[in-house]
Amino acid sequence: MQAKKITIAIDGHSSSGKSTISKQLAAKLGYKYIDTGAMYRAVTLYALRKNLIHQKNVDKDQLINELSNIKISFRYNTNTQRSDTYLNGENVENEIRELEVSNNVSPVATIKEVRQAMVKMQQEMGKEKEIVMDGRDIGTVVFPDAELKIFLTASTQVRAQRRYDELKAKGLNVSFDEVLSNIEERDHIDSTRDESPLVKADDALVLDNSHLNPDEQIKYLLEKVEGIRNAH
Ligand code: DC
Repeated sequence: MQAKKITIAIDGHSSSGKSTISKQLAAKLGYKYIDTGAMYRAVTLYALRKNLIHQKNVDKDQLINELSNIKISFRYNTNTQRSDTYLNGENVENEIRELEVSNNVSPVATIKEVRQAMVKMQQEMGKEKEIVMDGRDIGTVVFPDAELKIFLTASTQVRAQRRYDELKAKGLNVSFDEVLSNIEERDHIDSTRDESPLVKADDALVLDNSHLNPDEQIKYLLEKVEGIRNAH
C-alpha cells in the first residue's frame, strides 16, 4: 500500500533550527521542502533595493503596490545540494541571509497584504501534500489541517550562539551581542504583531531542541510521521 501523503508544518522562533531539520526530514521522506522565512526575506530584499525601507520604516503603500511584481521561487542547486531562493529569476540565496535583510525583515512580515500574498503562494506550493514547510504561521494559518504540526523551540542563548557560529563560519564580522539583540528583537516583533503572530497551534507538538542534535530530532519526527501514516 502506498504511504499516506501528509503535510508537515514546522513553526518556531528564529534560529531554532527549523530549516536544518525540516530540510533533513523532507529529504528522508522524499518530500518537498519550503522555507517560508526565505520568502519574507526575498520581499525585504526587494524593498531595500527599491529604497522602500528607511530606518526600519517601510513605505507600506508602495510595497503593496509592488507586490504583483515580486515573483519568488525555489530551485534545487546540485552543487550545494540545497534549494536556492530566486527573486524575479535571480538567485538571492546568499543576499537574503545577510544582516541587513535580517534586521529589516520583521517589519515587512507584519504587513497584512504581504502575508496574504505569501500565504497564497505557500498554499499553492503545498496543495499536493508531501511537503515540509517551516515558518511562523504554517500550522495556524497556512495549513491549519496539517497532519503533523511541530512547534520548535530552544533557549535564546542557544539560538544566538547557533546564529553567531553560522555567520562567523561565513566570514561575517559580527559580535555575539549584536546577534543576540537581533534575535530578541525579532522574537518580540514576531510574537506580538497583530497579523498572524507566532503562536503554537493548539494541536502542535512542542520540541525543545536546546540539548538535542539533528539526528535525535529527526528520529523523533520520523516516529511521529510513521505513527500518523499507520493510523487508521
Ligand atoms: O525563519 P527566518 O528567520 O528566516 O524568517 C525571517 C523573518 O520572516 C522572521 O523575522 C519572521 C518572518 N516570518 C514570518 O513572519 N512568517 C513565516 N511563515 C516565516 C517567517
